[in-house]
Amino acid sequence: MGEGNTPLTHSPRLSERVGRGCEIFIKNEGANPTGSFKDRGMTVAVSRAMERGTKAVICASTGNTSASAAAYAACAGIPCAVILPAGKIATGKLLQAFIYGAKIVAINANFDAALRIVRELGESGDFTIVNSINPDRIAGQKTAAFEIVDELGDAPDFHLLPVGNAGNITAYWAGYREYRTHGRSTKSTAMIGFQAACAAPIFHDCRIDKPETVASAIRIGNPASWKQARAAIAESRGSIDVVSDEEILAAQDWLARHEGIFVEPASAAPIAGLFKCCDSPSAAYSFQQIPEASHIVCTVTGHGLKDPDVIIRRIKELQPLPATVMDVRRAIEL
Ligand code: F0G
Repeated sequence: MGEGNTPLTHSPRLSERVGRGCEIFIKNEGANPTGSFKDRGMTVAVSRAMERGTKAVICASTGNTSASAAAYAACAGIPCAVILPAGKIATGKLLQAFIYGAKIVAINANFDAALRIVRELGESGDFTIVNSINPDRIAGQKTAAFEIVDELGDAPDFHLLPVGNAGNITAYWAGYREYRTHGRSTKSTAMIGFQAACAAPIFHDCRIDKPETVASAIRIGNPASWKQARAAIAESRGSIDVVSDEEILAAQDWLARHEGIFVEPASAAPIAGLFKCCDSPSAAYSFQQIPEASHIVCTVTGHGLKDPDVIIRRIKELQPLPATVMDVRRAIEL
């Protein structure tokens, strides 16, 4: 459906913020067909499932995986079941699963419990699981790393991204490694992941039973690809860090107002993280001493329109004016 080949935008303002002649690029995965990076892996997972003659696909989700699975199952003409934590899915994502015709099941528990149930249902052989525990998902998602190297001419020095179930950091690292092995790049990229402060099992090295964050996409306490993420961080000499909900929302605003890129809260985590690396003495990775002219890529993972709820609360009710040029001119205040 046209997944991948998303924009890699150079940001002069973020580059200036980091300084030392560094160049910052934003990989905008919200530009995929269902508005998130999941489509890269989903097109592969559903195609391969069809090849093996599957009757239906199933996933647990914080929202984006379910939107993507529902769309690609619809395209393939097979049923899709999505298991979601009740009341914790952003409005736009729920609408997507509905309109693409998925069977939606909400449970009174969080994502981690939903994934546990899906794993068991997958064992019955009635469904193909299309969560990122399916290696076909990772194989599709690593193409984002290929695109970045192709466009920049070499691998970046640093890659910042949000971490939830930890499939994407695993996939990017696999992509960078594979390109380097084949001589398509010369540099190793340090993978720097960001979790939300109260949903940060990898950072704390401890399962979180009740994860909480405004970034509902990464509200995960027991990531499936925990070990692989740890390996990616260690092998790449990167790090894992946390950002607060306030920092996430401030970064979401900043990106919209300064770059014209509207992302959902989880996707603002690496931008909040970049600011932390520049400014905060408590950052797991400080950018004060990084080599001059480093190339830094931040992946923003999902489109802002998926999660309007937090923002709608901030919009004051609009008072209509008389329809005259004078009234309108005065109201513009510029
Ligand atoms: N950003 C967004 C917008 C996401 O939807 C997710 C994960 C992540 C980041 C984290 O990626 O899990 O590979 O570490 N969303 C999953 C879902 C869990 O169900 O949609 P990850």
